[in-house]
Amino acid sequence: MAETSEEGPQGGQYFRKERLKCNPEDEARLERQHFWRIIHAFRSYRVHVQEQVKRAERQFRSLSQRHQNLLPGVLSNLTRISQCADHNQEVLQAIIHNSLHMFENMEYGEREDPRKVRPSSTFDMDKLKSTIKQFVRDWSEAGRAERDSCYKPIIQEIQRLFPSDQYDVSKVSVLVPGAGLGRLAWELARLGYTCQGNEWSFFMLFSSNFVLNRCEKVNALTLYPWIHQFSNNKKSSDQTRPIRFPDVNPQSLPLTSDFSMVAGDFVEVYSDPESWDCVATCFFIDTAHNVIEYVETIWKILKPGGVWINLGPLLYHFENIANELSIELSYEDIRAAMVKLGFDIEVEKESVQTTYTENDRSMLRYVYDCVFFVARKPAELYFNCQEDDGELSSSPSAKSPRRECTDRLT
Ligand SMILES: C[S@@+](CC[C@H](N)C(=O)[O-])C[C@H]1O[C@@H](n2cnc3c(N)ncnc32)[C@H](O)[C@@H]1O
Repeated sequence: MAETSEEGPQGGQYFRKERLKCNPEDEARLERQHFWRIIHAFRSYRVHVQEQVKRAERQFRSLSQRHQNLLPGVLSNLTRISQCADHNQEVLQAIIHNSLHMFENMEYGEREDPRKVRPSSTFDMDKLKSTIKQFVRDWSEAGRAERDSCYKPIIQEIQRLFPSDQYDVSKVSVLVPGAGLGRLAWELARLGYTCQGNEWSFFMLFSSNFVLNRCEKVNALTLYPWIHQFSNNKKSSDQTRPIRFPDVNPQSLPLTSDFSMVAGDFVEVYSDPESWDCVATCFFIDTAHNVIEYVETIWKILKPGGVWINLGPLLYHFENIANELSIELSYEDIRAAMVKLGFDIEVEKESVQTTYTENDRSMLRYVYDCVFFVARKPAELYFNCQEDDGELSSSPSAKSPRRECTDRLT
């Protein structure tokens, strides 16, 4: 596997780990196709938004002249949206620049024959727009309140359980599966914990690699995350308002910090038993095809005495997606399974109100009523929910080889 010239977070490397599912050649081919499909989505953004803008312009021009005259600001706002899209495209180009060499142990070969490239799907474009909004959540001043509601409870709990006056926190290992753009994992590394983020989506991986490794100047970059929202705007200028990022210098981790990102499917990458002191999941467990598979994996990889901290809703990402396994359990059912498996639930709050990539000026705003818990794998292990052979089951997952989750409602 090729080494990259591109550094991973804080001098580490991005690794791409995957268990091979079909024959290695097919697997590599599918992986390459997927990689290029996402690169193509990044490149197609401007054209996609311009089509939306042109459509809006056509609709407007179809109005009677009398109505058009009553709305003197509409066309200039569309021009502004178009300029913002051009700017977003420049940032997206910067994000995918050099992404070919981003993974230390994976090569994606030559670009596909452009004649064979199909237009990006609405699904991929929606995913890209969600990724742009994720910059607000993770790396802008505007996302601070949201981070305080989502990440702070997790961080505070880790500090309570592993306080720096009682632990050498550099020896406390924390895994953040579904790390998104990496801010939670980065904050934990900043506090001195050994922290690894894990992420599956190329949209997120390209973007986190960019912000963590190639951005240093505070608030030097601009995105226009709300230009895709044509409804529920109180003012036209709300749609084209900028956000600046990063609100901190991502390179400012202490030199001694141990921070890494690993790409791949959580259940496939993490199989080494008793490896982690803490697993922190935020808005993650509902990305599962079968959430019990996640619960079992977390149980397995936690050291005896280790803790799982979770905050999030249960907005199952594969619900209603054709040909995808999706087991949609209530929190009550998940909780019962966790207890049966052996977890001790030490802290539990069933109503933590948070937002997710919220547009705080929108006339439509979602609030998630999240569950928050701390579950411990007891130091003295007892097994009351094992398979007959004493092994934790690892049922085959019924997923397609490469599939980006949906970001429903985000
Ligand atoms: C709703 S987002 C939450 C991101 C981040 N934790 C946050 O709170 O902003 C869920 C993330 O999990 C990632 N994800 C989904 N399935 C995954 C899997 N099997 N392994 C690793 N990451 C996964 C998605 O790509 C997405 O970035």
